[in-house]
Amino acid sequence: MRKKKLTLVGLKKMKKKGKPVAWITAYDLPFAYTAEQAGIDMILVGDSGGMVQLGYETTNPVTMDEMITMAKSVRKGAPNTFVIGDMPQGSYEISNEKAVENAMRFVKEAGCDAIKLEGGRRVTDRVDAIVRAGIPVMGHLGLTPQSATSFGGYRVQGKTIESFDDTIEDSLALSLNGVFAILLEAMPNQSASQITKAVSKEYGNSVSMFGIGAGVGVDGQLVIMHDIMGFYQPFRPWFAKCYIPEVIEEYSEYIARLSNVKEHGRESRNDGLLILAKMAIERYIEEVKKKEFPSDEYSYEISKEDISKLQMSNWWTV
Ligand code: KIV
Repeated sequence: MRKKKLTLVGLKKMKKKGKPVAWITAYDLPFAYTAEQAGIDMILVGDSGGMVQLGYETTNPVTMDEMITMAKSVRKGAPNTFVIGDMPQGSYEISNEKAVENAMRFVKEAGCDAIKLEGGRRVTDRVDAIVRAGIPVMGHLGLTPQSATSFGGYRVQGKTIESFDDTIEDSLALSLNGVFAILLEAMPNQSASQITKAVSKEYGNSVSMFGIGAGVGVDGQLVIMHDIMGFYQPFRPWFAKCYIPEVIEEYSEYIARLSNVKEHGRESRNDGLLILAKMAIERYIEEVKKKEFPSDEYSYEISKEDISKLQMSNWWTV
């Protein structure tokens, strides 16, 4: 478990010291509890919960009420962790008032510390309004699942000069409007680290740049709980790593001995899925802190030819 709950000031300090942040999604009490016990820095109650937890085919049908139910349960399981509520599709697009009202629900009803929403320049008004209402906002760029159909499905981003430049310009616009962090999803390491450099150059340590499937050149990593546990069967992204086989390989003897009630007592709660899940999250955290995850095996490749095209961008620095 972390000694102290992470704060926005703590996040800036971690960025300044080059300490990577490890975060994970959770949608219910048992997994939120396990993540907190393992020492996770932050939890996202993602609208991915609509798929992995509620069984929708995409994230689009998830409602605010469903998000609040999941977020409340996460808060109960992880009372001392920085929790971010993910604004579902339809909860922020209509007007600034609607966006602030729904963001406020995450804080007042579920006890979240911040919210996340998808989009760049098209949502800066909403970001500004929510920040002015006193709620910390995280941006989300790259592959944004809520609008995936508008850019041809779940495809890697930041590979062409247009997509790379767009993501930098969106990142700078979000930063100007007060986000404390931006999540980059599904892009090659080289693009994400250039975007991180560009934002850090303008905004110093004020905006943390995180990645999910965006390589190691960012300030921290997010993974989906059900991917690292190997729970969600319909789809597993290229960059997702299941940690359970490694945990079993390394700790099977120790885990088997946990059934000895004489040694551990009948009251022990550490002899089941909890200990396995906790070890998986601990291993993930350790790999993030050592910058070992995501290794090349879990990162998007980019050809030399595509890199040389990106190097023509005015934003590319050596
Ligand atoms: O909903 C979620 O978990 C997310 C991630 C896919 C980044 O937004």
